[in-house]
Order: sequence, then C-alpha cells, then structure tokens
Amino acid sequence: MTEQKVRWGILATGGMAATFTADLVDMPDAEVVAVASRSAEPAKAFAERFGIARAYGDWESLAHDEEVDVVYVATPHSAHRAAAGLMLESGRNVLCEKPFTLNAREAEELVALARDGGRFLMEAMWMYCHPMVRRLKALVDDGAIGEVRHVQADFGLAGPFPASHRLRDPALGGGALLDLGVYPVSFTQLLLGEPSDITARAVLSEESVDLQTGALLSWESGALASVHCSIVGGTATSASITGSQGRIDIPYGFFFPERFVLHRDGRDAEEFTADPADGPRASLKHEAAEVMRALRAGETESSLVPLDGTLAVMRTLDTIRDRVGVRYPGETR
Ligand SMILES: NC(=O)c1ccc[n+]([C@@H]2O[C@H](COP(=O)([O-])OP(=O)(O)OC[C@H]3O[C@@H](n4cnc5c(N)ncnc54)[C@H](OP(=O)(O)O)[C@@H]3O)[C@@H](O)[C@H]2O)c1
Repeated sequence: MTEQKVRWGILATGGMAATFTADLVDMPDAEVVAVASRSAEPAKAFAERFGIARAYGDWESLAHDEEVDVVYVATPHSAHRAAAGLMLESGRNVLCEKPFTLNAREAEELVALARDGGRFLMEAMWMYCHPMVRRLKALVDDGAIGEVRHVQADFGLAGPFPASHRLRDPALGGGALLDLGVYPVSFTQLLLGEPSDITARAVLSEESVDLQTGALLSWESGALASVHCSIVGGTATSASITGSQGRIDIPYGFFFPERFVLHRDGRDAEEFTADPADGPRASLKHEAAEVMRALRAGETESSLVPLDGTLAVMRTLDTIRDRVGVRYPGETR
C-alpha cells in the first residue's frame, strides 16, 4: 500500500457520509471504491453522486470486499458497534464516527476485535487531527501557560430538533452528550487525560435523552474542567484553557479553530491563525490523511487518535450518563 491509492469503502449514506466522501474524492491519494447502505436504492444514488464503482444494498458485501483497504462507518452511534464489528471481523480496517460507540463496553469490544485481528481502528475524532488543535496542544505540552488548572469548553446547537430526529431518539443513542458533548470531553482529555472524579447535571427530554448537560471533571493534579453541551441552545462553542502562567482562549468552533489567543502572564497577547495552506477550517482531509499515513506505515493505531484515549473518553461519557440517569433501550454495561 506504500505507493498506490488507499481504497475506501463508505458504510451508510447520510449527511456525514456525504460530507466525508466529498473530501475524500478530492484527495489524490484516496479512492472511494465502494459504498454500502441498508438497502440498494440509497447505495446506488450515493454511488452515482460521487462516482463510486460498487454500490451494496447490505453491509456484508462491503465487509467481504477484499479490494477495500479501509471502511468509514457513518451510521448513527447506536449502530457503530455492529457495523464496525462486522467490518473488523471480516478483515477490514475501520475509521468509525464519533461518539465511537454507545458506551465503554462496546468500545472495548471493538478495540479487542481490532487488536486481536491486527486491524487498524480509529475513532473519527477529527479535532485531534486538526492542525490548529495540534499546535495548541504542542504549546500546552511545552508549558506555554504553565500547569493546566482549568479547561472550559462547550458545544450546543439551537435546533430545533423534532422528536423524530436521531438526536432525540433514544434508540439511536440520542441526546446532546454523545453527539456534541463528546467534543468538549475529548478536548479536555486531550490536555489532561482521564479525570479522577466527575459530577454532572442534565435536563432530560420526554424521551429521556439529555437536552443539555453540564459536567465538572476533576484531576488529582488539582485541575478542573467545566463542559457543557446542548441540543436546545446555540452556545458560544468556545474553549478556554487556564494555566498557572497564562491562558489560551479559543473562540467559536474550538474543535476546528481558525484562530486562538495565547495570554502569557506579563507578556502581550499572541494571536495564532490558521495556515491557509491547511485548507478550509472544517476540512476532514487531515483526519483522512492520518488514516492513510498510518495504513501506509503498517500501523494499526493512530498516534493522533489513540484507542486508549477513545476508551477513556467513552468511560467519562458513561459516568456522566450514570450521574444524570440516561440509559439507552436494551443497553447493558
Ligand atoms: N465528525 C463530524 O463532524 C460529525 C458530524 C455529524 C455527525 N457525525 C456522526 O456521524 C454519524 C452519522 O451522523 P449523520 O448526521 O450522518 O446521520 P444521518 O444523516 O441520520 O445518517 C445516518 C445514516 O445511517 C444509516 N442509518 C440510519 N438509521 C440507522 C439504523 N438504525 N441502523 C443503521 N444504520 C442506520 C442511514 O444510511 P443508510 O440508509 O444508507 O443505511 C443514514 O442515512 C453519527 O454517529 C454522528 O455522531 C459526525
């Protein structure tokens, strides 16, 4: 695979599948060769839209397509375990959308399948591959603001999301936390690792999914993080990292920043802006490039989005849901 194009299969034909595929077809070292849907018609329409050679009306055909190097799973979260599991069991490598699974138990099962079978597996946490987030993390790791004392991050959308929307449907893993809260939690854990304690409050819908959730995470180092997510209010979607010697403020879109400001104690503020060569701020190409780099290097895990980090995030999401009383139908943990 060193020289030739990486051959992608797309599993599901919804909004995110289309967004990611549009970026993939624009990458010279990628080729989208197959798409699978739960039924034939959407697969055919998706294949025609993006010029994809093979369209499958079932997942098994994609799982057994030996001419596919890696499958991108873009079903609702509730189906990530089944879809990614089927692909891994059949020998495919997998990039699986966020949240990785419904809960940590499912995540552990997928990670075990990948590690036991020697297959590549990565959560599509594109934030971790974003050049500006990597720059910010390098600054924090280099001690630019001293020791991290507090992280604030939020992500909320006003909607309105009707009761029929997947975000409101418990059977599809609905609610703000898994869909949106995964970003502030993953951002916080990128900087501080897994918290030692968690408190949380949420407002639940009639369907018993969380409409908005606030959580306070703490670490034995003395650091705290406040995270908030909502599907009933458009939040600033910003973040701020306070350290013992300064602060970094990231305005709207902290998980795909255009700019951020570093305030070092006793110095003028420094603004960091995105390099135009990195392309549009919301590009998913950095994530796709990381998958292809790892596959070409023969790696089964991404160093930017390590599976142990994904598992730690899933444990935090589980604990927050335990604190606020959200359980999905038939869920066992
Ligand atoms: N990385 C990001 O920025 C980002 C943004 C948005 C969403 N996401 C994630 O991407 C995933 C998909 O979100 P989306 O917005 O694309 O959702 P969506 O538009 O509803 O599409 C999901 C697709 O999955 C399939 N599907 C629907 N119900 C299913 C079920 N019960 N079981 C199995 N497959 C089912 C359908 O495709 P077929 O009819 O072809 O089977 C559907 O078109 C979610 O996990 C979400 O969190 C990520």
